[in-house]
Amino acid sequence: MLGDKKIVFSGVQPSGNLTIGNYLGAIKNFSAFSDEYHCFYCVVDLHAITLRQVPAELRRRTYETLALYIACGLDPEKNTLFVQSHVPAHAELGWILDCYTMFGELSRMTQFKDKSAKNASNINAGLFTYPSLMAADILLYQTDLVPVGIDQKQHLELTRDVATRFNGIYGDVFTMPDGYIPQTGMKIMSLADPTSKMSKSDPNENAIVYILDDKDTVLRKFRRAVTDSETEVCRREGKDGINNLMTIYSCFTGKTDEEIVREFAGRGYGDFKLAVGEACADQLAPVREEFARLMADKAYLEDIMKKGAAEAASCALKTMRKVRKKIGFVN
Ligand code: TRP
Repeated sequence: MLGDKKIVFSGVQPSGNLTIGNYLGAIKNFSAFSDEYHCFYCVVDLHAITLRQVPAELRRRTYETLALYIACGLDPEKNTLFVQSHVPAHAELGWILDCYTMFGELSRMTQFKDKSAKNASNINAGLFTYPSLMAADILLYQTDLVPVGIDQKQHLELTRDVATRFNGIYGDVFTMPDGYIPQTGMKIMSLADPTSKMSKSDPNENAIVYILDDKDTVLRKFRRAVTDSETEVCRREGKDGINNLMTIYSCFTGKTDEEIVREFAGRGYGDFKLAVGEACADQLAPVREEFARLMADKAYLEDIMKKGAAEAASCALKTMRKVRKKIGFVN
């Protein structure tokens, strides 16, 4: 099935509504790999339950995330799109890798520290071992390249450390994966507080632009974006709000910083914010339409899930056979 192509793997959690940060930092770039690589794009529902989920919402968002993958341009004929819990090998290898991941390593993960601070009443073991499960996702498919946002860099480094440790004990079992962190759009900041990341768990709705926001909402959110007391559109230290808007505008239009500075020279922030909002809303309009069409066709999405899970499982099985044998499990 995979031929000689190298492997790409990435995952998106079905928790919360996806933001333009998820879009620009990850999903938009996914389709670029389809020709050169065999790509596995996974809806990571096992990861999602490290935070408490409402069952009906988790189920709906699993469909939505898959629909969004497709609406953002991932062709299900060319890519393996699937749901993590449909392939039990993820949980199995996740457990195995727990036993090759050190307590100290997991304790150093900044995402664990952030999430435990925010969820003090539910610091469960899954939240702690989240990175070993992510390592399992990646290593199961002998992945070469992992496109992710910069916030996942530490998890990726841990994945490489675990793979190195495992290979060191048992010989070459796992391919060593490289991260692919896009230059632009790697970190989209909150519109309300441009010193922190735009996060789908932010309680301030004005801070976040969702992929599925309609045009009026997008324009309103950008109009309210926090900037500074100057008037010049340019990228400079301390101008976090404008820097962020320039990044977003550049991602949506392909324009360079110099072009943006020239375009808005002598014009106010109001004009600039409107232009960013329009570029964003216009590019997302076809995604929104396609998403609505797909969500109205659950049977189609279920077909895709089924086909994707079968493809993924057959690839995962090869790795699992090797792993079980190397560890000394009886066949
Ligand atoms: N941890 C990733 C995130 O929150 C999601 C994820 C899970 C992932 N497994 C993965 C990303 C494997 C890349 C590869 O964004």
